[in-house]
Amino acid sequence: MTKIKLDLRLSSVASLVRNGSVVADIGTDHGYLICWLIQNGISPHGIAADLRKGPLENARNTVVECGLDDKVELYLSDGLKELPENGADDIVIAGMGGILIAEILSQAKWVFDKNVRIVAQPMTHPEVLREFLIKNGFKIIEEKTSTDGKHVYCALSAEFCGSESECDESYYYLGELLKNDDDITKKYIDKMLFTLEKKYIALKKSDIDDYIGLEKLINEIKLKVSEAYND
Ligand SMILES: C[S@@+](CC[C@H](N)C(=O)[O-])C[C@H]1O[C@@H](n2cnc3c(N)ncnc32)[C@H](O)[C@@H]1O
Repeated sequence: MTKIKLDLRLSSVASLVRNGSVVADIGTDHGYLICWLIQNGISPHGIAADLRKGPLENARNTVVECGLDDKVELYLSDGLKELPENGADDIVIAGMGGILIAEILSQAKWVFDKNVRIVAQPMTHPEVLREFLIKNGFKIIEEKTSTDGKHVYCALSAEFCGSESECDESYYYLGELLKNDDDITKKYIDKMLFTLEKKYIALKKSDIDDYIGLEKLINEIKLKVSEAYND
């Protein structure tokens, strides 16, 4: 029987899943996450879903190799569209862009529920995902960062609370990251600021008015970072 080992990125995603919850892993691909969660007693059973047949077959093979055929239901599905409503407690969407993750969530109204936990790991545009969550009545509970040496990743958990929390634009970029006082998080924030500063320089050179708003955003982010880390 195969025993799944997760890399650091997927381990940080797994650590945000609630103990005992039925999990739907959307965009499962290899199916490692759902099988690991069941093998390690975090989840009693779950769902693995993917948009494409090839990745879903990969997941099926992993499920069979792990002997978990009776514990994982497989769905060929665009996001959560083909899944039973209220079919899971925790919805994991990892390894996709933040824009796509937001789009997938927006199409499944049953996840707008206080009892459902969203666990997302956006590869790009996490700020779009955070903005979507906040503006649609979710609150971000926790964020984690991880690295494979080359890339730095963030993962977050969120829950529907029914009302939009007040925040400024810098929150869409920082989320709950400043609660973490570790080197990987600091590196993640440095990289994000570096990207914004590069964009700022390019906009300023081309004399596009937008650069003033971006400068304000960068300064807001820097201020919050220095307040949080006292530097
Ligand atoms: C890069 S893989 C990530 C696999 C795994 N979740 C991880 O984090 O390692 C992205 C997967 O998402 C699937 N995918 C893309 N768009 C999707 C959608 N709208 N609904 C479901 N799955 C989707 C792709 O087919 C692919 O298997």
